[in-house]
Amino acid sequence: MSYLGPQTIIEKKRQFLLPCSYHFYQDPPQLVRGSMQYLYDHTGKQYLDCFAGVSVMNCGHSNPEILHTTLKQMEILQHTTTIYLTEPIVDLGERLADYLPGNLTRSFFCMSGSEANEGALLLAKKVTGKTGLIGLEGGLSGRTHLTMSLTGIPMWRTMDDPSPNTFLAEGYAKHSNETAEAAMERSLASIRSILEANPKGIAAVICEPIQGNGGIQVPHVRYFKRLKAILQEFDALLIIDEVQTGYGRTGKNFAIEHFDIVPDILTSAKALGNGVPIAAFSTTDEIAASFTSPSASTLGGNPVSAANSLAVLNYLEAHQCKERAANLGKLLLEKLTALKETYSIISDVRGIGLMVGVEIRTPEGLPAPEAVDRILERMKDAGFLIGKNGIDRNVLAFQPPLVVTKSDILNMLDALASALQEERAE
Ligand SMILES: Cc1ncc(COP(=O)(O)O)c(C=O)c1O
Repeated sequence: MSYLGPQTIIEKKRQFLLPCSYHFYQDPPQLVRGSMQYLYDHTGKQYLDCFAGVSVMNCGHSNPEILHTTLKQMEILQHTTTIYLTEPIVDLGERLADYLPGNLTRSFFCMSGSEANEGALLLAKKVTGKTGLIGLEGGLSGRTHLTMSLTGIPMWRTMDDPSPNTFLAEGYAKHSNETAEAAMERSLASIRSILEANPKGIAAVICEPIQGNGGIQVPHVRYFKRLKAILQEFDALLIIDEVQTGYGRTGKNFAIEHFDIVPDILTSAKALGNGVPIAAFSTTDEIAASFTSPSASTLGGNPVSAANSLAVLNYLEAHQCKERAANLGKLLLEKLTALKETYSIISDVRGIGLMVGVEIRTPEGLPAPEAVDRILERMKDAGFLIGKNGIDRNVLAFQPPLVVTKSDILNMLDALASALQEERAE
């Protein structure tokens, strides 16, 4: 097989794609093949994928057990729209009703996380009859105009031209030297003040249970209970965005289950398709009842994506993926926390399950995105693809496929210790 190679791909990207699509690494590999937790470049070099295409490939790359179903469905019936009756979409709706927390039993299928969030926001506006929406600083909701307006990460807002009636409240990430409790109080007070200034106007708050792009920020354990109570006072809904955290990643089906509440609307995408585009927003009978005006997403829940997602849910359950995420995540968190004792550039280690962030700062306590880039480059050369995120792009993100093994993680940690050691010598 002959490949273009990284340089030609970069040249073609420069010529034919919009310059807004960046890539990682000074010396990036051309990825040509994936198999479960591993990716391979055009030279045949193997990499352990520790980012899973940003929490998408929870069941691993080209998983044969899932693809068997997907390809079979592709051969039989590939696409019709939802104006015709087909079986996989209703089977998936039924299955998801069982998999989702509490009384969230109705879903609308679409194509991407942004589209699911946009639909959830529309539903919240329809059911409450109000138009105001609140997002959180440090949160990411998507790249449509409305979801970008509710995104609290400057680099992902693109233009400062927010949709009307959108508000950003303070987020739940700790400021330096702040406790999680103080961060919770600050964020809740900020949300309350927006609600009080618009007592009849706010339809919903949308937020992630763990902010992914914001640097894997975990709120205080009581945050969502308190938030839900505040929203109930103002007849506003809680939309929980599980686009990055859903489908076993944090050791539960959905991360919000760690906080012991059921949201009014839950959105999911990414890992639901394990690489096949599909997303959903899901809600209760009562809230769904108001959404009777016609709405359709051409490819949403088409036979192939729905059959594929059913196979994904079967695989997650049959292979105890969330239990693996809980156990291996504990090991990963412990070992990364131990590295923090040795390497002072690690300022924080946080996360739940297989969603862990390592924040990197200079000795003066400033964000160190250049150090993160150097560590990522060394890790890639050693055969490990690590993610990065955070408002200051100074957080190493560990979100591997849930099929990763203990020895994969231990090998990765050895390589990370060497990469940190080299960084210390810089
Ligand atoms: C939490 C969260 N919400 C929404 C989105 C947008 O999803 P998509 O890129 O599928 O539109 C993302 C994407 O990274 C995300 O992480």
